[in-house]
Amino acid sequence: MTTAQSAYPATRLRRTRARAWSRALHRETVLTPADLIWPLFITEGRGVEEPVGSLPGVSRWSVDGIVARAQEAAALGIPCVALFPNTPPARRTQGGSEALNPDNLICRAIRAVRDACGEDVGILTDVALDPYTSHGQDGLVDEAGYVANDATVEVLTRQAVVQAEAGADIIAPSDMMDGRVGAIREALEAKGHHNVQIMSYAAKYASAFYGPFRDAVGSGGLLKGNKQTYQMDPANGDEALREIALDIAEGADSVMVKPGLAYLDIIWRARQMFGVPVFAYQVSGEYALIEAGAAAGAGDRDALLMEKLICMKRAGAAGILTYHAPVAARLLNG
Ligand code: PBG
Repeated sequence: MTTAQSAYPATRLRRTRARAWSRALHRETVLTPADLIWPLFITEGRGVEEPVGSLPGVSRWSVDGIVARAQEAAALGIPCVALFPNTPPARRTQGGSEALNPDNLICRAIRAVRDACGEDVGILTDVALDPYTSHGQDGLVDEAGYVANDATVEVLTRQAVVQAEAGADIIAPSDMMDGRVGAIREALEAKGHHNVQIMSYAAKYASAFYGPFRDAVGSGGLLKGNKQTYQMDPANGDEALREIALDIAEGADSVMVKPGLAYLDIIWRARQMFGVPVFAYQVSGEYALIEAGAAAGAGDRDALLMEKLICMKRAGAAGILTYHAPVAARLLNG
């Protein structure tokens, strides 16, 4: 006698998917507004909102508008905003010294947000010279246009202290110089800023996805050439882990992988290898492509963006910097 073999498998993975309550019960990854950091662009003036052409739905705001956005973030449950200044052209110089002005646009915005929001929202600031230089590079350049490492680290360290003195909570060096995390940590300690965190842009790639950001901060038209002598080659993965290891050793509290979606393998490997908080930056080009794709009928905008965000969390991201933060938070809050 032979036993009749069922044509169907005993184990059916689909069984758990048949009802919404069961899908909810078996969901492995959750996304909440508390996972989001909202990047904001600042411009001079009062009552000013300037839409960024290449980022539909994103504007530059004068300091009063930045305060309103920070209050909106707190109301939506978004724990942190990231501030990026669009420095007036007349203040951009070869050496980017406006970065060290304690009364520059970003410092005024930091103080205004702190005054209005207190501890309700964290303030992350970018450390790099590109919004302040007349050449759009992140550091100090020699005659050949090469960005010099050590001289740049010295200026960035001072820039980080200026931002911390204004009230920044998280210093985020986005420049990809070697040794800057250690130098910044030492300077922060020396000035008593023991609780100011460092989130390093540890694995930041020389990416074609940053174009709309450079429009937003006004460095795009100034930039000659590219940033391949300091940002990473998209072909490299092992090197990203070495970058991350160095930044952790130098005192980074958390690290960032940037861009996000095309680099999920780096997020995954970093999380597995180091167990530190790894943040993903869904960059401007990624945002713009979702908006353009949805506008062209390629899919539903909200569904596209929520899928991308949950996938970054599934890959191991502790949180995500995204221009879609308020849209996503509203969807999550129902
Ligand atoms: C500046 C900086 C860049 C971004 C964040 N900080 C641009 C660059 O490196 O050229 C990109 C963010 C985005 O595209 O959304 N150092």
